[in-house]
Amino acid sequence: MRVLVSGGAGYIGSHTVVRLVEAGHEVVVVDDFSNAKPTVVNRLESLTGASIPVHAIDLTDVDKTAHLFAHEQIDAVIHFAGYKAVGESVAKPLDYYQNNLDSTFSLVRAMERHGVHRLVFSSSATVYGAEPALPMTEDLPTSATNPYGWTKVMIEQVLRDVAASDDRWRIAALRYFNPVGAHPSGQIGEDPSGIPNNLMPFVAQVAVGRRDKLSVFGDDYDTPDGTGVRDYIHVDDLAAGHVAALDRISAGTDPISIWNLGTGQGVSVLEVVRAFSRASGREIPYEVAARRPGDIAASYADPTRANAELNWFAHKTIDDMCVDTWRWQSENPNGYPDA
Ligand code: WQD
Repeated sequence: MRVLVSGGAGYIGSHTVVRLVEAGHEVVVVDDFSNAKPTVVNRLESLTGASIPVHAIDLTDVDKTAHLFAHEQIDAVIHFAGYKAVGESVAKPLDYYQNNLDSTFSLVRAMERHGVHRLVFSSSATVYGAEPALPMTEDLPTSATNPYGWTKVMIEQVLRDVAASDDRWRIAALRYFNPVGAHPSGQIGEDPSGIPNNLMPFVAQVAVGRRDKLSVFGDDYDTPDGTGVRDYIHVDDLAAGHVAALDRISAGTDPISIWNLGTGQGVSVLEVVRAFSRASGREIPYEVAARRPGDIAASYADPTRANAELNWFAHKTIDDMCVDTWRWQSENPNGYPDA
């Protein structure tokens, strides 16, 4: 199929592009490059050997989005594009609601108008809210503790209602846990701008010497070693999950499906630190700091529905994730070049 990947130059989008091409799909990327660099697509073309058309547009622009569908033969869409920084969303709620919701409305309307009814949406375990039952299952109620999370909750609801309005829709909402790691080639990886919010890229920058030390946000949680526990999933396993979901909805009959993409294993902050030291051969200096507001003690998936219905499993371990992250970070100490 010819698949439009919105946010295809981003971290998870770029890794999914590789898996789509490897699975025999053609890919078209649309990205506003507000949080990604154009050079990523060059690396994707050299990694895959495929020519990857790029549309550098803002999906909230209804006319430009419609123009894209009028000029590209699209069979399916994987929708990653959106703002995703939790803290930033608290400071700029209107930007987050407007961008994430309007871009989705504009995209889905253009799909409808051009008879494209296969959609995979990038959702998040953040929709399970502040105190979810563990392990998280897809039937849990959804809520959020920040505007970013609310945009994911709201878009899932919009897509449920769109699917219910026309039985031609085949939609998947994929709830990611904690995506980390990098493609084993070391050519693409996570490249956060500024100070990383997330643990793995921050640890990687300490290991490569860009940061002095890690602040461990609390060691007094009700977890085995007192530090936060998360379900880290290798971005390459996550990318494979998108291809599996696309195949499933293309062959399936359910208007909309929700799947957790996680390993089902919880790993603590200090376990990540130790794994990264093993992978990099570097000490990771850290100090215990205050808890980060909004953090929960533990989060990990029940992935059995995706395992059974998608025949998809996360294979890579936390050590694999750290080895691949270290290769990316050490070969690209300052991330992607600007040009
Ligand atoms: C992981 C653990 C921190 C940084 C976030 C978003 C979520 C999703 C994934 C989009 C926690 C601890 C972190 C640091 C630390 N994004 N930590 N020092 O918060 O689980 O999830 O990213 O969908 O929506 O909320 O990931 O990597 O920020 O934190 O001690 O410098 O590492 O307290 O226990 P999180 P994270």
